[in-house]
Amino acid sequence: MVVEYKDNGELTIGGTSLKTIAQSFGTPTIVYDETQIRTQMRRFHEAFQKSGLNYNISYASKAFTCLQMVKLVEEEGLELDVVSEGELYTALAAGFDAQHIHFHGNNKTKREIQYALESKVGYIVIDSLEEIDLIDRYASEEVNVVLRLNPGVEAHTHEFIQTGQEDSKFGLSIKHGLAIEGVKKVEDAKRLNLKGVHFHVGSQIEGTEAMIETTKLVIQWLKENDIQIELINLGGGFSIKYVEGDVSFPIEDGIAEITEAIKTIAQEADYPIPEIGIEPGRSIVGEAGITLYEVGTIKNIPNVNKYVSIDGGMSDHIRTSLYDAKYEALLVNRNDPKDETVTLAGKLCESGDIIIKDAQLPSTVKRGDYLAILSTGAYHYSMASNYNQMQKPSVFFLKDGKAREVIKRQSLRQLIINDTK
Ligand code: LLP
Repeated sequence: MVVEYKDNGELTIGGTSLKTIAQSFGTPTIVYDETQIRTQMRRFHEAFQKSGLNYNISYASKAFTCLQMVKLVEEEGLELDVVSEGELYTALAAGFDAQHIHFHGNNKTKREIQYALESKVGYIVIDSLEEIDLIDRYASEEVNVVLRLNPGVEAHTHEFIQTGQEDSKFGLSIKHGLAIEGVKKVEDAKRLNLKGVHFHVGSQIEGTEAMIETTKLVIQWLKENDIQIELINLGGGFSIKYVEGDVSFPIEDGIAEITEAIKTIAQEADYPIPEIGIEPGRSIVGEAGITLYEVGTIKNIPNVNKYVSIDGGMSDHIRTSLYDAKYEALLVNRNDPKDETVTLAGKLCESGDIIIKDAQLPSTVKRGDYLAILSTGAYHYSMASNYNQMQKPSVFFLKDGKAREVIKRQSLRQLIINDTK
């Protein structure tokens, strides 16, 4: 995203003044550069096209979803991953073709399985042995399923967003025999067609090593067990840049490395290359989104710390308290030098409600200023809560100098809409 200061000192995205956005629409608000979202999707497409392999790219809704986001996904020719009744409902409400939806989840409810079947989603990703019986029982016609494997690979990322290690609630362990048992069970089931296998080694992964190593293990396992499939889905997890020093996954080079490695692995194993799927979430929307806040109370505790507080907090920005994630803040309405280290805090009633622990900010920051927190496009709105009865923020897509509202700010009335009198 091109975030830059104009000569008048105002911060802009693609030429649009963020001060104007904050003043016109209020804060907190999440603003996306629509062009950048589309660019990310196209980069993945082009990288795979270059490889010559059959592929499909599926956007992981959990990173951020709403009707207009689903429409972008459709316009850019991506498929869609959903993990709950709510994500499926959102996708279908946006008119997304169910054939291109994949249903995930380690504990799909009976209702979710029935909803996925009735909607005729493209495939259901099976995450446990018992789910095989459940789906087979509820299905009235043939249904495509993909087995989620637990490859037992530990990717280098935060412990809580690691998913491929052996002791995990996700997938069927290859090493402990659950995966092969799953294949046999699907073969024995009446209405299930084993379309493929799936794995996901973790999230915010900078390199290609974990994905390549896992693909190798999986292809060797498929070959050894003489399992024929149409699809291997490598999951998501491509990293983004939050702060200086982070690596934004190099899509072109990275996908080239992965697809070349797959060709070699398949050749060495003498196994036909199936369609290759990926399901990125964060890398599509993460860097394209920023959150705008207004500065309120500033508390200077002599010789201890200076707290700068903003008008949101862990209700719309949970990743710092949850994962100790790092962010960068920029002053929106003036381009003053960043000459001070402060703690940027939220307004919720918890000491842990911190946005940035050691934030570099101009010492001139005062009440009424606006701040932009960069790289908040993934897992921010989607993990927002109403803690402290905070209202979820509004969301805008910016394109060609225009802002369109894609999610309205939650109203006070909506906070009590489900309460009984
Ligand atoms: N596919 C599967 C099966 C997944 O579990 C995930 C993420 C994705 C795809 C998309 O991963 P991505 O490309 O977005 O990294 N709330 C955490 C992230 C949890 C990710 C869970 N699964 C965070 O804020 O970092």
